[in-house]
Amino acid sequence: MQVYYFTRSGRSKGIAEQLASHFHTQAEQIEDGVDWSGAGGYMKAGYFSASGKSLPATYHSPEPEGTVALVFPVWAGTFPPAVRTFIDQVGRERIVCIPTSLGSKLKDRDGFARVIDLVGKTISAPEEL
Ligand SMILES: Cc1cc2nc3c(=O)[nH]c(=O)nc-3n(C[C@H](O)[C@H](O)[C@H](O)COP(=O)(O)O)c2cc1C
Repeated sequence: MQVYYFTRSGRSKGIAEQLASHFHTQAEQIEDGVDWSGAGGYMKAGYFSASGKSLPATYHSPEPEGTVALVFPVWAGTFPPAVRTFIDQVGRERIVCIPTSLGSKLKDRDGFARVIDLVGKTISAPEEL
């Protein structure tokens, strides 16, 4: 199992690291080079996601075979822009999608190997994928 994450405030990274440790591997970060911090970053993140935008994503390519766990924050009910790119490049059927959020679930859920929602102020890594 390969484990990837995108994070703005660290929650998804924490979950990805717990999962990676369980699978005796390293959590791989997806980056987009954008500063999403602060109130301005929050507004920008909401706008980019709500309008369905993608952004170029930087990450170590996954192995050609096998399932990929992908941990990321739900932004405006959907994917952060670089996560959208990663999903398009890797393919939904290979991805166990693990969205983290505070109160609502990911809306666009079709085609993934599985979707495991981590909703709430306190979340922890799933025991099994
Ligand atoms: C721009 C933006 C939009 C968000 N939209 C939602 C949402 O639609 N539903 C929700 O429950 N949480 C929403 N959140 C909260 C995050 O999904 C949640 O805090 C997430 O676990 C943060 O993960 P991270 O620390 O890895 O960035 C949003 C956060 C941001 C920054």
